[in-house]
Amino acid sequence: MDETARHATITLDGRVMNLPVLSGTIGPDVVDIRRLAADAGVLAFDPGYGETAACRSAITYIDGEQGILLHRGYPIEQLALQASFPEVAYLLLYGELPTEAEYAAFRHDISEHSLLHEQIRNFFNGFRRDAHPMAILCGTVGALSAFYHEAIDISNEASRDLSARRLIAKLPTLAAWAYKYTIGEPYVYPSEERTYAGNFLAMMFTQPNKRYVVNPVLARALDRILVLHADHEQNASTSTVRLAGSTGANPFACISAGIAALWGPAHGGANEAVLGMLAKIGTKDKIPEFIAQVKRRGSGVRLMGFGHRVYKNFDPRAKILQATYHEVMAELGLARDPLLDLAVELERIAIEDEYFVSRKLYPNVDFYSGLILKALGIPTSMFTVLFAVARTAGWISQWREMIGEDGQRIGRPRQLYIGAPPRDFIPLAERV
Ligand code: CMC
Repeated sequence: MDETARHATITLDGRVMNLPVLSGTIGPDVVDIRRLAADAGVLAFDPGYGETAACRSAITYIDGEQGILLHRGYPIEQLALQASFPEVAYLLLYGELPTEAEYAAFRHDISEHSLLHEQIRNFFNGFRRDAHPMAILCGTVGALSAFYHEAIDISNEASRDLSARRLIAKLPTLAAWAYKYTIGEPYVYPSEERTYAGNFLAMMFTQPNKRYVVNPVLARALDRILVLHADHEQNASTSTVRLAGSTGANPFACISAGIAALWGPAHGGANEAVLGMLAKIGTKDKIPEFIAQVKRRGSGVRLMGFGHRVYKNFDPRAKILQATYHEVMAELGLARDPLLDLAVELERIAIEDEYFVSRKLYPNVDFYSGLILKALGIPTSMFTVLFAVARTAGWISQWREMIGEDGQRIGRPRQLYIGAPPRDFIPLAERV
């Protein structure tokens, strides 16, 4: 990160201050306000941090206008079509694509660590059968800290690395077991003979009395969803992981905090909302009525899975998943599920409709990921759980990057105080 020759100048109460301008490799320059409070006695006000670069990072780059998403410089389109999820996880963690030998060693490690300590089974029994799997995931990931004491020593690079691999390895097992627990079926153990995504499908759907064979087209589709959700810069859950991690908290606790942040409907819940919307529409003949309602000003009804806060022309992830969605539907036989059939028709109508076209509202990643997960037989309550499995790779990479930085400090936002000015305490008997 270089300081440019440029400065931003602010004048406050007649005093002029030059604030350095810093440049990254690509993307907007930033004004360095770190000395603002000390030199000028004022703070910057930016609720939601929309205008604030809270860290330096070399992991992910997004250009919303151009629809660009890069991980370590590689375009998401190339990664999604050519790399597997563990390869992308390695890239996020270590900055470079693995060589064949590095990849084999990483895969071996992930497979070794995919087992859970048998005592962890007891944790599941403590939950109600109807618990939401995200609640179970938050609890059990946090509980991992109790099993790996060396993870507490975050100053040791080898133990940070081990924790990162453990988390990436164990998340699918915890996620699948959370589901098995809620439906009352026996847990299925991971196997080194399956791929990362294949393992997850097998742990979700194997029943002791039936043979389950992983369908490679479906496993590839799931792997692609995982790649497309692996990281997305400094979003709410990633910032949560960084903030928790900045205190020196152990990585299992930090990822558990990230899972809690992801659970909110404004963050990880949109693909679940797509399915809710389709169920509400019900049948194809109701689509025009629903679209009219969406367009009616003040109705408060939105076409879920359309539009994006950052990507204004297209969501690069949605383009890839659109193709994957059609692959999955071809593999399974298109109109098998009336809800998916309804989705195809809704998408066709919406992308031609002037209302959506003029507002640049295109299907986003959640429209297709929801449909694909539904086609794979994954229940809606597990959608955000799968997002968490994928994002663990990004979270732990961001955490690792932050802890490894020289001069890393605790995160401590400030505030604009709007409460009462100083006043004297009034004894209870004298209050009116
Ligand atoms: N359906 C109908 N109209 C919409 C929609 C939609 N999904 N999204 C935006 N609009 C309209 C909005 O009413 C406004 O119209 P007008 O100019 O007439 O007032 C115009 O488009 C601009 O909307 P906006 O609210 O300024 O757009 P935004 O950038 O603030 O909102 C969004 C982005 C994602 C919150 C919104 O598009 C939305 O609510 N989409 C549906 C929910 C969804 O699918 N969320 C998942 C996003 S992907 C998550 C991820 O990256 O992980």
